[in-house]
Amino acid sequence: ARLPDARTPAAGPLIAAHRGASKYAPENTMAAFRLAETMGANFIELDVRATRDGRLIALHDETVDRTTDGKGRAGELTFGEIRRLDAGGWFSPAFRGERIPSLEEVLDRFGGGIGLILELKQPSAYPGIEQALARLLTERGLDRPERGRIIIQSFDTGSLRRVRELLPNMPIAVLVRPRRRVTSRDLAEYRKFADAVHLPGASARKPVIRRIQSCGLSVMVWNIHGERQARRLLRYGVDGILTDDPLLLGR
Ligand code: G3P
Ligand code: CA
Repeated sequence: ARLPDARTPAAGPLIAAHRGASKYAPENTMAAFRLAETMGANFIELDVRATRDGRLIALHDETVDRTTDGKGRAGELTFGEIRRLDAGGWFSPAFRGERIPSLEEVLDRFGGGIGLILELKQPSAYPGIEQALARLLTERGLDRPERGRIIIQSFDTGSLRRVRELLPNMPIAVLVRPRRRVTSRDLAEYRKFADAVHLPGASARKPVIRRIQSCGLSVMVWNIHGERQARRLLRYGVDGILTDDPLLLGR
């Protein structure tokens, strides 16, 4: 599988809005996603988990405690229970009434338009999440990279291998944990099922980036807060950056 075409140098570096434009709006909400689009981001990154009744939702934490007015693990709540929660008021009163989006809602609103980086978050806690994701994408024809501009990412390489089997054409990115050294052996493995490596900012040194790219894998770097760091990484030739602030480079 190839990554979506906007990665070519001529098209400029890719800016991915981390959890949406999460500097300006509550993370992983439709408000944050719409804002990312308005601000000219190339991709929206969002975290995907499953509810007790098997619906896929956009949520970063294992529980709803930090980002809603409710309590409990997403996997122990039904979608109906989750939809009643306010997912915006914790960020600012201006966003009261925002809901935790279903992945269907996100795909129906943005699929085929702005790119999406879908992160399978702790997928081992949600058996069958890869199949559910594959179903939602396939039903909408978004499993074809030329149409979908979607990348699936995860820290869990076992889950990514399952995605590759289910969706052979879907671009896949391995998320690297902070302080994890990426060895040549790792890269040889990643090449079997992935197209890109998403490095944490602190690990994104020029030789590492070059080494990964020379294996034919793309490199995006997360999570970038400052313009100086962003510009340095772009000089190093990264394929894109993930940031809470899509306006970081003054677009
Ligand atoms: O895209 C990388 C990043 O999203 C991984 O960290 O915790 O923000 O999901 P986290
Ligand atoms: Ca994420």
